[in-house]
Amino acid sequence: MRYRTLGRSGLRVAELGFGCGAVGGLLVRGDYAEMVRTVERAIAAGINYFDTARSYGDGQSETNLGRVLAELKADVLVGTKVQLAPNELDDIKGAVAHAVDDSLRRLRRERIDLMQLHNAIAAQRRPERGWVTVADVQAALETFESLRRQGKIGAYGINGLGDTEAVHQAVALGAAQTIQSCYNLLNPTAGMAAPAGFPFQDYAQLIDRAAAQGMGVIAIRVLAAGALSGTLNRHLNAAQSVAPIASGSDLAADVALAHAFQPLIDEGYAGSLAEAATRFAISNAKVGTTLVGISSFEQLEQAIAAAEQGPLPAAAHERLQQVWAGFPTLRGSG
Ligand SMILES: NC(=O)c1ccc[n+]([C@@H]2O[C@H](COP(=O)([O-])OP(=O)(O)OC[C@H]3O[C@@H](n4cnc5c(N)ncnc54)[C@H](OP(=O)(O)O)[C@@H]3O)[C@@H](O)[C@H]2O)c1
Repeated sequence: MRYRTLGRSGLRVAELGFGCGAVGGLLVRGDYAEMVRTVERAIAAGINYFDTARSYGDGQSETNLGRVLAELKADVLVGTKVQLAPNELDDIKGAVAHAVDDSLRRLRRERIDLMQLHNAIAAQRRPERGWVTVADVQAALETFESLRRQGKIGAYGINGLGDTEAVHQAVALGAAQTIQSCYNLLNPTAGMAAPAGFPFQDYAQLIDRAAAQGMGVIAIRVLAAGALSGTLNRHLNAAQSVAPIASGSDLAADVALAHAFQPLIDEGYAGSLAEAATRFAISNAKVGTTLVGISSFEQLEQAIAAAEQGPLPAAAHERLQQVWAGFPTLRGSG
């Protein structure tokens, strides 16, 4: 396993991170013995960052992760998040402080290594979608800083989802140490200029902008919530129907589009679509750690094997440019 520094958080993280979210679902809906076995295997392989949130299974992911790590007596980095509810926006400071205490208790820890604001960011609050403004982000970050001084959290960061312009403004505040960024084969625009006519949200090189500010970048939705496996069949632990982030209209549309990347397999650049997707994110040197949402022990093994293969070769990246150039046509015909 190779390690990278997560920007000015200073955290040294393995380039592959463990996603404990509700989409993969192992840490939310899985069998406890499989959780223990899988987390133990991850640690043995060198994975040292586990990403959860209070909203994953309404606290269940944090509770399970805390229990498993305590049982394993594991010395690893844990990141969690607070998604502010509409009724918490009148007292962001109080809500964030309360959420951190609750997460510490569920995680059975004295300190959270990385605390993140989970809300997406927009020009105006959109309570029905959980979107907050840049001013709200600033208030949360000020609270994070005060909690850091109290020793309750280590580093802190934001979520790179929402309106592109507002997200970039939140980055420009210069206060957050890390950002989570949606970055995958279906929507690579956080890490490169959008190809002409690109049909999905343009993140306008958010990863480059954040890295230039010294922020650590955490790549999320690297498998497009499973669509980049190329199949609609979801694991029993996984969320069965997931809204895509900044790609097709639904999971089925994303699965259909995922087949456009089959040439990478046919031409020998990767053994599977999931491997290609994981290695694509790892290829970006500005990404600190690449999260994969894990449903099972086998998926973790496959993610480790993909990370061991390292970045995709330059020729594969050239091939990808051709695939993306065909995207608008594909969407039109699909
Ligand atoms: N900040 C945010 O708002 C945010 C948003 C999303 C995610 N995240 C973080 O990023 C992590 C990962 O994101 P995610 O879980 O949403 O999506 P993801 O990693 O893009 O996709 C996870 C899905 O990929 C499939 N998969 C995993 N390994 C596979 C393999 N080897 N072969 C085939 N399919 C495989 C699984 O689906 P099946 O088992 O059903 O096949 C799994 O449910 C989360 O756990 C969370 O920590 C953060």
